[in-house]
Amino acid sequence: MLLIVQVRGLLVKKRRMAGLLLEKPKESNMRLEGKTALVTAAGQGIGKASALAMAAEGAQVWATDVNPALLASYDGVAHVRTAVLDVLDKQAIDALMNDLPALDVLFNCAGFVHAGPVLQATDAEWDFAFHLNVRAQFWMIRAVLPKMLANQGGSIINMASVCGFKGLPNRFLYGASKAAVIGLTKSVAADYVAQGVRCNAVCPGTVDTPSLQERINVFDDPVEARKGFVARQPIGRLAQAHEIAPLVVFLASDESAFVTGQAYHIDGGITI
Ligand SMILES: NC(=O)c1ccc[n+]([C@@H]2O[C@H](COP(=O)([O-])OP(=O)(O)OC[C@H]3O[C@@H](n4cnc5c(N)ncnc54)[C@H](O)[C@@H]3O)[C@@H](O)[C@H]2O)c1
Repeated sequence: MLLIVQVRGLLVKKRRMAGLLLEKPKESNMRLEGKTALVTAAGQGIGKASALAMAAEGAQVWATDVNPALLASYDGVAHVRTAVLDVLDKQAIDALMNDLPALDVLFNCAGFVHAGPVLQATDAEWDFAFHLNVRAQFWMIRAVLPKMLANQGGSIINMASVCGFKGLPNRFLYGASKAAVIGLTKSVAADYVAQGVRCNAVCPGTVDTPSLQERINVFDDPVEARKGFVARQPIGRLAQAHEIAPLVVFLASDESAFVTGQAYHIDGGITI
């Protein structure tokens, strides 16, 4: 009997090592039933995985993205409605938020990764990084917050990065802008903690998304470049987008009701 248990234990261990834990979780307990959530940059990557995970937990999800072609992939997905939204367009943000009822959850996911050190960064790149990675979150929060406050509750989740906390080579603009996201998050959390609105940030390590592949493809040897990204992570592999989504679901749900102003690392051990 003991032997069987041990053998089964080994099997489980072996299957985990073979990557079975990378499969998407299929079970749902409807932890977000009754909540309305909006996700920016939900067309692919972490935003899409999070929108789908929140919908699977019963939330009514507004999946938004600047690219309408990517939003077409939501056709027929239960609990998801889509809207084209460019988070660099303040008028478009305000118009959409005027039309929508109060949100319970806002996931500010849109962002862009610039490569290079400070001596290669241009003013235009600085502006773009801060407009997309930081100012868009400011605009979204400012547009969403009045209805959340009137509703006496809400959870705002901002996409930061491990780069906002730890210095990584060739990530000057990205690190600076993602660190600003953490400051923005804590500030909003401090101002509205007594009024039922929580605000937290997620800080992933390297996640295998379409834009990561684009960053890899610009190297002369993309295979070696991918190995370099993997080598940065003590856990020995890249994350998949659906491994970040459960943290977003947790922060969106009432399970995190006592949590605000935090920056959650989910990074394969980079910040150990
Ligand atoms: N992939 C990673 O390794 C990683 C790690 C840490 C943090 N992040 C952050 O996660 C977020 C998503 O990255 P990803 O790699 O999952 O996705 P991605 O970069 O592959 O996709 C980005 C999405 O953003 C949309 N988008 C671009 N500009 C937009 C705009 N102006 N308005 C609205 N949508 C816009 C695109 O159409 C696309 O659907 C970003 O903020 C990124 O900085 C990514």
